Amino acid sequence: MLELMGSRSHIFLLIFVSQILAILGQTNSNDATALFAIKSSWNNLPPNWEGSDPCGSSWAGIICTNSRITSIKLSGMGLEGNQFGDLSSLTALQILDLSNNVGLKGTLSPSIGNLKNLTTLILVGCSFFGPIPESIGSLQQLVFISLTSNSFTGPIPPSIGNLSKLSWLDLSDNKISGTIPISRGSEPGLDWLVNTRHLHLSKNQLSGPIQSRLFSPTMKLIHVILDHNKLIGDIPESLGSLPNLEILRLDWNSLNGPVPSNLTMLQSLNELYLSNNNLNGSIPDLTGMNFLSYVGMSNNSFNPSDVPKWLTNLTSLKTIYMENTTLQGQIPVELFSLPNLETIGLANNKLNGTLDIGTGYGNNLTLDLRNNSIQNFTQKAEYNMNISLTGNPICDGAGATARYCAVQISNDSFSSPQSCPAMSCNSDKALSPTCKCSFPYTGTLHFFSLSFSNLENSSYFTTLAGSMMSAFLSNGLPVDSVSLSDPTIDIYLYLQIEAQIFPSTQDSFNRTSTSSIGYLLNRNPFQLQFFGPFFFTSEGYCCFADGKKKSSHTGIIIGASVGGAVLVLLTLCAGLYAFRQRNIAKRAGHSSNPFESWDRDKSGAVPQLKGARWFSFEEIRKCTNNFSESNCIGSGGYGKVYKATLTAGEVVAIKRAQHGSMQGAFEFKTEIELLSRIHHKNVVNLVGFCYEQGEQMLVYEYIPKGTLRESLSVKPKLQLEWTRRLRIALDAARGLAYLHELADPPIIHRDVKSNNILLDDHLTAKVADFGLSKLLRDDDKGHVTTQVKGTLGYLDPEYYMSQQLTEKSDVYSFGVVLLELITARAPIERGKHIVRLVAETIFDSEDNSKLYQLIDPRIGPGSKLEGVDRLCTLAMRCVNESGAERPSMGEAVKEIESILELASLSKYTEEDLTSTSYGDTTQVSLDDFYNDKAFDYSGKYTSGGMNIT
Ligand SMILES: *[C@@H]1O[C@H](CO)[C@@H](O)[C@H](O)[C@H]1NC(C)=O
Ligand SMILES: *[C@@H]1O[C@H](CO)[C@@H](O)[C@H](O)[C@H]1NC(C)=O
Ligand SMILES: *[C@@H]1O[C@H](CO)[C@@H](O)[C@H](O)[C@H]1NC(C)=O
Ligand SMILES: *[C@@H]1O[C@H](CO)[C@@H](O)[C@H](O)[C@H]1NC(C)=O
Ligand SMILES: *[C@@H]1O[C@H](CO)[C@@H](O)[C@H](O)[C@H]1NC(C)=O
Repeated sequence: MLELMGSRSHIFLLIFVSQILAILGQTNSNDATALFAIKSSWNNLPPNWEGSDPCGSSWAGIICTNSRITSIKLSGMGLEGNQFGDLSSLTALQILDLSNNVGLKGTLSPSIGNLKNLTTLILVGCSFFGPIPESIGSLQQLVFISLTSNSFTGPIPPSIGNLSKLSWLDLSDNKISGTIPISRGSEPGLDWLVNTRHLHLSKNQLSGPIQSRLFSPTMKLIHVILDHNKLIGDIPESLGSLPNLEILRLDWNSLNGPVPSNLTMLQSLNELYLSNNNLNGSIPDLTGMNFLSYVGMSNNSFNPSDVPKWLTNLTSLKTIYMENTTLQGQIPVELFSLPNLETIGLANNKLNGTLDIGTGYGNNLTLDLRNNSIQNFTQKAEYNMNISLTGNPICDGAGATARYCAVQISNDSFSSPQSCPAMSCNSDKALSPTCKCSFPYTGTLHFFSLSFSNLENSSYFTTLAGSMMSAFLSNGLPVDSVSLSDPTIDIYLYLQIEAQIFPSTQDSFNRTSTSSIGYLLNRNPFQLQFFGPFFFTSEGYCCFADGKKKSSHTGIIIGASVGGAVLVLLTLCAGLYAFRQRNIAKRAGHSSNPFESWDRDKSGAVPQLKGARWFSFEEIRKCTNNFSESNCIGSGGYGKVYKATLTAGEVVAIKRAQHGSMQGAFEFKTEIELLSRIHHKNVVNLVGFCYEQGEQMLVYEYIPKGTLRESLSVKPKLQLEWTRRLRIALDAARGLAYLHELADPPIIHRDVKSNNILLDDHLTAKVADFGLSKLLRDDDKGHVTTQVKGTLGYLDPEYYMSQQLTEKSDVYSFGVVLLELITARAPIERGKHIVRLVAETIFDSEDNSKLYQLIDPRIGPGSKLEGVDRLCTLAMRCVNESGAERPSMGEAVKEIESILELASLSKYTEEDLTSTSYGDTTQVSLDDFYNDKAFDYSGKYTSGGMNIT
């Protein structure tokens, strides 16, 4: 507190002095003062924010015109600050983009009403809260407002109706309440927004009816997105009068009454989402919507009806969801021959009779008919579609092929062939689609809607990457290429795609480039085929080319990091980079070769190796067929792993470090000395090594069933049920406990992760890869504390902060692995850390029901898994922020032993879980069907690289 007050008086002095200096510079002094105020209250501002003349010395993110500041673009810089600051003197400001600075908190000051020239306000993905000030309605030049993904509360200010130039209004994903305001007499309302094309108010707490007067034929609306609110009443007929409407999302509200028949006037409509309301009357007839590609009507109370015949006339249809809508009768065979069809979801209806798909169906059709009354299935051909008939009478008898009655509808994962010659990059860099190693700017694109549903069809993503590239290039941004991956439909039916954007000029971007990229993406300048509007979130960039982050209050950052996993990860990223640089410098200075005196003929120098053998390069070259690709079983930042059979018949895995990722000779020697001493059933055994001809290779016993991560992936080779997972947890815990408590000297693994836990033929788990291990003893240099190593997502935040390495850091990583075993999620998925996800879920719910939803559905319903609560509790204890509060590995072993004992005795044997009882809970609610798991997979899509110079 005292320190804060002290720094405040500094701030005043600073402002005073800089104001005087500013008079001498090129910047308008009022504008300069406003920036100095920001500078003194926010952290992590660009390092070139120095001196007193923002315009004259070109501060990053600031653009001036005639000494006035006209644009502030600070997207994705990791800014932190607790107040918005007083920007009101920046009266020439046109563009204000602070998006993706999750550390920016506070309320929007009514003085924002002074920014009379503002055209563009983008605050996507910050942490602003409180009401949106009424004064926003006086900013007559505003064209674009996006406040997505903050915590704004209170009503939508009716004054927004005054913004006659507004084209884009996006307030989605906040906590905004009240009704959608419409005008009354001279009082404004959103019905006045005649030039607005985008109205996005989804994921809020809006209530009341959608007033008929909200829409009128003079409006230019193309996207009306109101899903996930608490709206009630009828769908207004006036919606049918919007001549340009392309996307309408009204799903997940409490709308009732019949669907107005004039909706069919919407001849340009592309996507119609009406699911999860209480709509009644007949199923609306959509004849004439000739561009309709997506229709969702599930979970409404329509009158019982046959599958509508008009559906078969809408030839643009790609996706139909009419689950739980009391459909009955037989499905007309013509439906399946719609030429563009990708998904038909008709689960939970009363469809009966004989299913006849005909022969004219399209490619890659997904057909979900679970829980209907279908008795027979005319199989005219070996259908290569994805189809589920679970819960139909036909699955009770012997009539159906088992695969149609399987529980899960899952898309096969798609992986585009790697177009680069076999190569990999140093650990922190990534390989671009144009085969260069650099630091990509990464983030997530969130699409409010999409026209398709076949996420395996790469052409959609190739098109998207191409559009992004051309937008970057036409805006002069130094982007080499774009790689898209992991398309996932989330529970809100938004499509999320991970994007990696690679730099073209150096191997990393500077701040001006990343903030321009963030601005461009959130400004949505695209005309996208197949995809609806979107926003872009990013957790920031690890590796700014223009130097380290400028941080003035380190003490406060550490204090605030409690509960801020994102923050930790951000700073971590920067930390790892800095460390890497230091390490490179250190290695360069390391010249003495510990192997000089370590010739295999000179026996005296070898005794440190207990049992490990020395291999010649020639021997290894032979048994790997000259390192042939067919022997290669894995690769990573360090190099490649080859499978080989030694002359004695022993099968081994040979890890060959690639040039550039070699350790120093000293580290290599340490590693093999260490590894050769370790002998435990749950630790991978070192067979030998090779250090010759500039090569570093480690020869391990071969563990045939691959990594635990692979077995938890979307398309695993092995299915691991509950007790099996417990056994794996126990094995890994025992391996680590051995390293910590029994090895002499004790060893801290430092890189515990699911990729480093291998499974043998008996599915016994073994801990592998001690590349980063460190003997736990005071060696001469006493440097157990200096090097932060490990893998993002598994790294103990306390270790990172304190740089003090203890066994408890392994315990933390092990806790993350436990959460992976339970949920099958990766430690960081879609920008969210698994620890935070589980912590929030536990915090959110009274009972454990929400937690159960996180459990990997492949191991069965959480409520029936004996001990899953206890394993979760143990995992959360392991990831406690304070190392002292975490259990030791020995304690973890005891707890898992006891859970396993219980689970094995439980009446739900593994057979029960994998067959009947699992089937019960997947009596699919829409939620389940759409949830991450059903669609989650990891395809990779890349744009062809285009170069600009
Ligand atoms: C539809 O729902 C409304 C309101 O819930 C109700 O008044 C009306 O009678 C219902 N109509 C039909 C045909 O069920
Ligand atoms: C089916 O739809 C009704 C509304 O028509 C809803 O109340 C119910 O929860 C839905 N059932 C399922 C399983 O989603
Ligand atoms: C479908 O289109 C055909 C040809 O245009 C027309 O004859 C038929 O009546 C239409 N069917 C329905 C149900 O609208
Ligand atoms: C199913 O259909 C086939 C062919 O149409 C017919 O031979 C068979 O008897 C039917 N089975 C049932 C149970 O109706
Ligand atoms: C993928 O989508 C495009 C665009 O809709 C379509 O032309 C193409 O036929 C689809 N490919 C496959 C294999 O379904």
